[in-house]
This record gives sequence, C-alpha cells and structure tokens, in this order.
Amino acid sequence: MLTASVTVDPAFTVGPVRPRTFGSFVEHLGRCVYTGIHEPGHPTADADGFRGDVLELTRELGVTTVRYPGGNFVSGYRWEDGIGPVDQRPRRLDLAWHSTEPNWVGVDEFVRWCRSAGVEPMMAVNLGTRGVQDALDLLEYCNGTSDTHFANLRRANGSEQPHGIRMWCLGNEMDGPWQIGHKTAEEYGRLAAETARAMRMVDPDLELVACGSSSSVMPTFGSWEHMVLTEAYEHVDFVSAHVYYYEEDGDLGSFLASAVNMDHFIESVVATADAVRAAGKHDKRIAISFDEWNVWYQKRAESKTPEGDDWPVAPVLLEDKYNVADAVVVGNLLISLLRHTDRVHAASQAQLVNVIAPIMTEPGGRTWRQTIFHPFALTARHAKGSVLRVALETPTYDTAKYGEAGVVDAVATHDAETGEVVVLVVNRSTSDEVALEVGLRGLGGMRFVEALTLSHPDHTWAATADDADTVLPQPNESAGLEGERLSVTLPPVSWSILRLAPEEGASQD
Ligand code: AHR
Repeated sequence: MLTASVTVDPAFTVGPVRPRTFGSFVEHLGRCVYTGIHEPGHPTADADGFRGDVLELTRELGVTTVRYPGGNFVSGYRWEDGIGPVDQRPRRLDLAWHSTEPNWVGVDEFVRWCRSAGVEPMMAVNLGTRGVQDALDLLEYCNGTSDTHFANLRRANGSEQPHGIRMWCLGNEMDGPWQIGHKTAEEYGRLAAETARAMRMVDPDLELVACGSSSSVMPTFGSWEHMVLTEAYEHVDFVSAHVYYYEEDGDLGSFLASAVNMDHFIESVVATADAVRAAGKHDKRIAISFDEWNVWYQKRAESKTPEGDDWPVAPVLLEDKYNVADAVVVGNLLISLLRHTDRVHAASQAQLVNVIAPIMTEPGGRTWRQTIFHPFALTARHAKGSVLRVALETPTYDTAKYGEAGVVDAVATHDAETGEVVVLVVNRSTSDEVALEVGLRGLGGMRFVEALTLSHPDHTWAATADDADTVLPQPNESAGLEGERLSVTLPPVSWSILRLAPEEGASQD
C-alpha cells in the first residue's frame, strides 16, 4: 500500500468558494434542449414544456449558472428567431451541428427554465455572423427597463420584468477555424472591445467574458489571449478557457492525471493576463471563466455530426457514456478549479443534459445520473466557505502525456461560519491503495461526519437507464479520526469526499 498525507490549516486560504464554479451549459446541440430540458408532452413537463424530472436532477446536481445558447451554435444564431409565438418561429439550418433548429425554445423560455431550476442565466452573443448592434439589441430585449422597442417587445411577449442577465460571453471560441465567423486575434480583440464598450454604455455593471482559447493545444494559445486582452483589457472582466481533450485513449495513467494539465492551463492564462496587465499598466486583474470543460470522447461515433442532406431536429449527438474513471477525472478537474479560486471565478461543465452530460434522458421516458454526476453534486453541495491551500505529500508516477504526476491530489474547504471542513481527494493509482493521513491544524476539536468514495474494481463501469445505481459514492468504512488526524484508505482509481465538523459545543472563533 502507498502512503500520502494532506495537512489542512484554516489560515492558508486561497479565496472564497465561488458558487459560479459549479456552472453548467445548455447549447442548442443534439438533445440538450429538445428532449433534454424541453419536451412538451413528457409526463413531467410543465406549462412551458420543460421536463420536471430534468429540473429536479439539475437542482440535485447543484448547478448555479447555466451558459446559453452555445457554443458553436451561437455563432450563427439569430436570437429574435426564438421569441414571440412559438408556432410562428422560423426553422433554420444550424450550420454548427448540421441540424435543423426549430426555435421552440428561445431566450424567454430559457430564462423561465433558469428561474424554475434556481440557476443564474449566462448569455452568449453572436460575434460570428453578427456584431455590436445585435448584441445591444439582445441586451435591451433581455434587460431593458425603459419604454424602448426591444424592452417593449419582451413585455409584449409575456416577460413584463427584465431578465436581469449579469454575465455575458462575447462570442464563442472565435480562435477556432471551425467557428462560423472565425477571426484572427486582432480582429476578435477589436470586436470584443467594441461590443463590450457599447454594452457597458447601457449597463456599466455587466460582467463580460472575452473568448480565450478553445484549448491549450491551439497553435495560437497564449498569443491569442495576449492580443485579445491587449485590445479589450479595460472593457472585460473575464477571459474564457475551454478544454475537452481529456479522454482515456488506452493510457489510463495519463488520463487520470488530466488535472495536472488543467492546473498548467489555468496558470498559463493567468500569467498571460497578468503580463498584459503589467504592460498596459492596468489596475484590475482579469479572472478566468472556464466556461466549457469536461471529459469528451470526440473521436467516437457519438460525436459524428449529420452530413449531406440530413439536417435532423435534435439528433443523438455527443451522447458519451461516462464510466468510473471519467468520474474520478471530473472530480479531480473540480479540485483543480477550486484550487485556483483566486483566479477562476466562474466555470461551466459542458454540458447539462444528454450532450457530454451528467444527466441523461430517454425521449418520453426515464432520466438517469451518469457517473460524473456524483462528484459534481457532492462537491457543489458540501464545498463551502474558503478554499484552503493544502500541504500534500504524495508518491508520484510518470505519465506519457503530462510528465510526473502526484498519485494523490487534494484540495480542502473550510466554512468559517459552521466550522465544517471538506477534503476532496483522488487516488490516481491504477493498481494501489493509498493510506492517507489528513492532519488538521488550528481547527480545534473536530468530529468525523462522513467519508464517501466513488470507485469500482471495474473502472469502465458506466450507468444506463436500467442500472444507474450499481456504482454510487459509498461510505468509506476505513475512515477514522483520532485527535487531529484523520486516516482513510483510498482504493485505486477513486474520488472521495471527507467531511468533518466541530465537536458539539466547540467554539467557532
Ligand atoms: O460543447 C460542445 C462544443 O464544444 C461547443 O459547441 C463548442 O464551444 C466547443 O468546441
């Protein structure tokens, strides 16, 4: 058995746990919207046609913000197609996903869905085929409070109150040659700056996200962020980051170390943003919106878009089936996002339903939780207060993709109000258990609340509609607290959450 230790001290804070770290993403792609969140006629559907079973699982997942309507889709989207009487809305070709968009759901329905789900909408504007004026029109339609054309149109369409959307993405993945209206960094940086400047004339308090790179393996990674921020620094609050190249392609050890790469990605974007800050003599710091991240098996048939004359409505697309190892990686990516809470101020797992998603549905039928649902839901529910920098002693192993990686990775949170401490930890070993000791310093008398571990001797086990429960996070019976030391055995390829609280009557000072 391997051994490792984590020391937790509430004095070593990185920053607050930010609710927006637990964001998600709904794109008009495949069955994410139609037969995903929306299916009139489904036995659980509400008056807007939104599936109640999906709403319930969305709440259980603990999602806080939802980015909409894309994704690649937004770069060809005319938002006004999705407003007004549903039976009069046009059907359009969606070039991004070679599909037909019926526009049964648009911004007003989406915002109503957000209210039901208890999540904050995060809107993306089309800077692919469109520009400043359309962004302003959409902003006025959503948030306008005056007696003006688009605000009145929203009222006439049944939304008397403004939608009050605070966070806006200025386009999507504009660095990607696959993007409709793809641009060079100079072209996009200017357009993002001008769009942001105009949107702030309407409302200076909007929170605006400039597109960063579609991944850190883009040839323009680094120089793209540098140029875009050189143009737009004073006008935006966030630069985005996206990553999808984490997949198990026969090298499980590398796959399990994916968070090493996410750490490096985040730190590279921070360094680039801070270099622009220094050169431009800016005061403020730019935060990262990691608004698309997940495991995605892009080369599998599931991700093949329709072709030729086939332009289906809501085809089965990107419906990856996630296994136990995928869930361990997703849990570890959340550890990475939390560890960088000083600079990652928002994140959206892509996507919410059916499309590379924690929640799956059958049209007209059942819904179920994929394996990746569990680490997300437990982290979102229990990680509260401040993120703590932990001192970690772990054996390491060599990976082909990411070099030397720790066998164990961990982060902790401390809620000063309740005194609760949460340790999130993975064992990346493919063969060995790890005996982990968690040292608790400066916390006073603590009691053990629970230790839950997600693992299975067969790490390829995946949930289905018929069996979503064989592998769930289970109480880890090896866990025990003695004085200031929690001991627990972590099985190979596992993700765990360890929870502690102050002893009854212990002071929280
Ligand atoms: O999430 C799926 C797609 O991945 C999004 O549409 C795009 O932004 C990214 O490339």
